[in-house]
Amino acid sequence: MTNLEGKVALVTGGTGGIGAAICLNLAKAGAKVATNYRNQEKAEAWQAAVKEQGFDIKIYQADVSDYEACEAMAAKVVSDLGPIDILVNNAGITKDGMFKKMTKDKWDAVMKINVDSLFNVTRHVVEGMSEKGWGRIINISSINGQKGQMGQTNYTTSKAAMHGFTMSLAQEVARKGVTVNTVSPGYIATEMVMAVPEDIRNKIIAGIPVNRLGTSEEIAALVGFLCSNEAGFTTGADFAMNGGQHMM
Ligand code: CAA
Repeated sequence: MTNLEGKVALVTGGTGGIGAAICLNLAKAGAKVATNYRNQEKAEAWQAAVKEQGFDIKIYQADVSDYEACEAMAAKVVSDLGPIDILVNNAGITKDGMFKKMTKDKWDAVMKINVDSLFNVTRHVVEGMSEKGWGRIINISSINGQKGQMGQTNYTTSKAAMHGFTMSLAQEVARKGVTVNTVSPGYIATEMVMAVPEDIRNKIIAGIPVNRLGTSEEIAALVGFLCSNEAGFTTGADFAMNGGQHMM
């Protein structure tokens, strides 16, 4: 396994399925890990569960769609754990609906959390990485940002935008030892996917060549590799992990 002893990692949206698996995997590799929450109750239950598994993961209240809150969160992580070496922009939501029924509220909510968050969090982290001469930024996008998806014009727009951000920032910071990559998971067995009506979900699974949903741990393993020293030549890339559902 990747050795991340001494590294400090901030993973947004760590209480969700993929985020939690990423936090645990980075902690297992030796990193000091921090995440954020919006919902207090969920956060307390999450932290207790993580402690039971033997890990002390710091969790801070911050809404990733709020620039000032992200600035305060980044400062707190630095003062509690040290300068941030690894940032995983994972927090994201869906508000699905066919476009003819799409409301402005649903559109805006998805853009603020999935896209504005990239600026809000990364802006407070990337300079520290550049100064240190080492950093890893991983943006968790989606297969649906690569192929489009009916009922998700808001979400697919936001997820495609993430990779534009990855490619531009990767070029800006490559010489500073900072890599920026996108991971595009397919349909993973998380609450988000389980919320899709069962008949539609079954149709989706039938279109996945490996014939199953992915696991959060599979995504976390790929993120772990991208955080390693061995991944230093990989930047500006978009890694698909989707059971063969969409081949590029
Ligand atoms: N795949 C295949 N068919 C789909 C589909 C999908 N993903 N989404 C909708 N359809 C089909 C429906 O089965 C239905 O077909 P029929 O007319 O033959 O019955 C047709 O499109 C219209 O759909 P609905 O009747 O459900 O329309 P609605 O207005 O009641 O609901 C909706 C619209 C809320 C978008 C609903 O269809 C839905 O939830 N679809 C799933 C969308 C989806 O795939 N979301 C992914 C969420 S998980 C995620 O995003 C994580 C990730 O990164 C992969």
